[in-house]
This record gives sequence, structure tokens and C-alpha cells, in this order.
Amino acid sequence: MLYLAPLQGYTDYIFRNVYNNFFEGIDVAISPFVTLVEGKHVKRSHLKDVLPENNSGIKVIPQVLGYLPDQFIVMANDLYDLGYESLNWNLGCPVPSIARKKRGSGMLSHLELIEKTLNEVLPKIPNKLSIKARLGYLNNKELLNIIPILNSIPLEFLNIHPRIGLQMYEGELDLEAFCECIKISNHKIVFSGDIIDFNFYNELKSRFPSIKDWMLGRGLLSNLFLPNEILQKKNYSKTEKLIIFSDFINALFEELKKTKTADKHVLNKMKEYWVYFKRMFVDGDEIFNTLKYIQDIERFTDITNEFLESAEIRV
Ligand SMILES: Cc1cc2nc3c(=O)[nH]c(=O)nc-3n(C[C@H](O)[C@H](O)[C@H](O)COP(=O)(O)O)c2cc1C
Repeated sequence: MLYLAPLQGYTDYIFRNVYNNFFEGIDVAISPFVTLVEGKHVKRSHLKDVLPENNSGIKVIPQVLGYLPDQFIVMANDLYDLGYESLNWNLGCPVPSIARKKRGSGMLSHLELIEKTLNEVLPKIPNKLSIKARLGYLNNKELLNIIPILNSIPLEFLNIHPRIGLQMYEGELDLEAFCECIKISNHKIVFSGDIIDFNFYNELKSRFPSIKDWMLGRGLLSNLFLPNEILQKKNYSKTEKLIIFSDFINALFEELKKTKTADKHVLNKMKEYWVYFKRMFVDGDEIFNTLKYIQDIERFTDITNEFLESAEIRV
């Protein structure tokens, strides 16, 4: 199975819906994290990204960040009432301000807290739980020590991004430590990290034959056709790819305009996407360097369309 990675700021419902209208291959998306909050119920505005009416395309598993059991239980039950039978728990976020509060990957250094949270939460939630984790926060042994605890509970899957929190998103993947984890885990494992093309996917597949589930994140944003490439489905010509990309990006732009109040916000968001989209093109850096300084929405559209008329697809 192919999963769309949660990428806060990128793979929100607008992206997921538009993507699904133009590209095939993703089976399930994990939503970017929703933080746990106080209260007897979670406000609908806090759940905007996962409200069923906003998610008509790809199947979504909502992801939550935090550990306070009462908040976890309320969130899980409210999501269940919205129709979500599955829920994903974020034990991977490396952002220092979050990790310092024992949330995301910061929690991986607190095995006893993970155990306590699971013991209190699991009996009181109706959803199937899965976990998205790193190898640790401070070192690559933390998850190894937690896996025996996870083996004793029902989990839909364990998703591992084989880095530690201190690495943030850079540096080598630690595939040896990942291998140790899969040896001792009795759960289904989903791999996440640096899959940017068919070759690397194939290498991973040969090295870890037991893994059948893969998550695509930055690689997908850098090549929107990546699921198709991995599944080896359709053989698009570069011209076809360019047409699909152009239609996709215009649709994404239109959807963003509907939801963002100020042009500035729409433009900023499009520029953030272009940090990745540019990698699809031979002259990607050049167009990005032009687009990033444009402050006028009409001009941004004109320059983008002009570029796409004769752009050369690299992937
Ligand atoms: C900008 C950004 C935002 C991310 N947001 C989340 C998130 O909300 N929840 C999560 O579990 N992982 C998050 N991740 C981690 C990704 O889901 C993924 O595990 C990681 O980027 C490695 O995979 P990739 O190389 O395929 O992107 C984020 C990563 C990036 C770069």
C-alpha cells in the first residue's frame, strides 16, 4: 500500500482533494497532526482539516499530537463520531518547542509515559490506533526499547521514519537501526523517509522484503507522478505530464484562493509548494527564483502559465 505522508503546511485537505483529482496511486493519507486540546468536545473549527465534508477524495487517517489521556480520549471519540475508525498518534515530530514538551519525537525518551498513556487511553477509545514514530529523539535505541511495549497492544500499524528527532529532516537514514526494529516488532511496519524515485524504492524493497507499505512525502511533492512511477502503472509522455501538472496547479491555485482571505497568503502558500514542485522541471530553480519575488497574484499566474507553456519536465 502507498500512504501519503503528513506534511504540516502541505498535505492538508485542499492539497489532498486536488491531488486526488489528477493523480492515482495513493491508498491512504495520514493527516498532518491535530493537537490535543482541553474540553469535553473538540471544536469543529479545530478539526477543519479532517472534517468529512472537506475530505471527499483520498481515505484519511487523522493524526493527533500530545499525550494527556483525557484529551486523547475526547479527541479519539469525537473523531470516531465523525466516522474515523482509525487514528494515528504522532511520536515523530522533531520541532524543538514540541519535543521539549514531551510531545512528538520528544516522547520517545520517556518510555514510561508512553506506556502510561497507552494503558489509560486504549481501553477508552473505539478507534484502531496506529503510531508514526522515529527511531528515537536523542538516540537510535529509544524506539527499540519501546517496541516490546507496543508488541503487547493492538496496533493497526507502526510507521517508522528512520531518523532521530535531533536530526530534524536531514542527514542519513539509519537503515540498520530500522532493520533492528522490524526484527523485533510484531506489527505491520510502514516505512517513511526519503523515497524520491523508483530506484530508491526498489533498493528498499529488496533490502526489506517483509515491508509492503510505503509512505511518500517530500518525494511526492517533488514528483507528483511518484506513486504512478512506483506502481509502474501508466506510461505518460513528458507532454502529457506537463498538461496534467498545469491543470493540477491551476486547480490548486483556485482552491487556495477560495479559502485564503488575502492574496498574500495564497501567494505564500503557492511559493512554499514551488520549493518542491520546481524539482519536476529542468529549469525549476530559475522559475522558482522568479516566482518567489512576485507579490501580485495576476502576475504570478501569468508567469507560471508562461513557464508551463514550454517547460521541460525532468521526472
Ligand atoms: C514540512 C514537513 C512537515 C511534516 N509534518 C508532519 C506531521 O504533521 N506529522 C508527521 O507525523 N510527520 C510530519 N512530517 C514528517 C513526514 O511525514 C515524513 O515522515 C518525513 O518527511 C520523511 O519522509 P519523506 O522524506 O518522504 O518526506 C513532516 C515533514 C516535513 C518536511
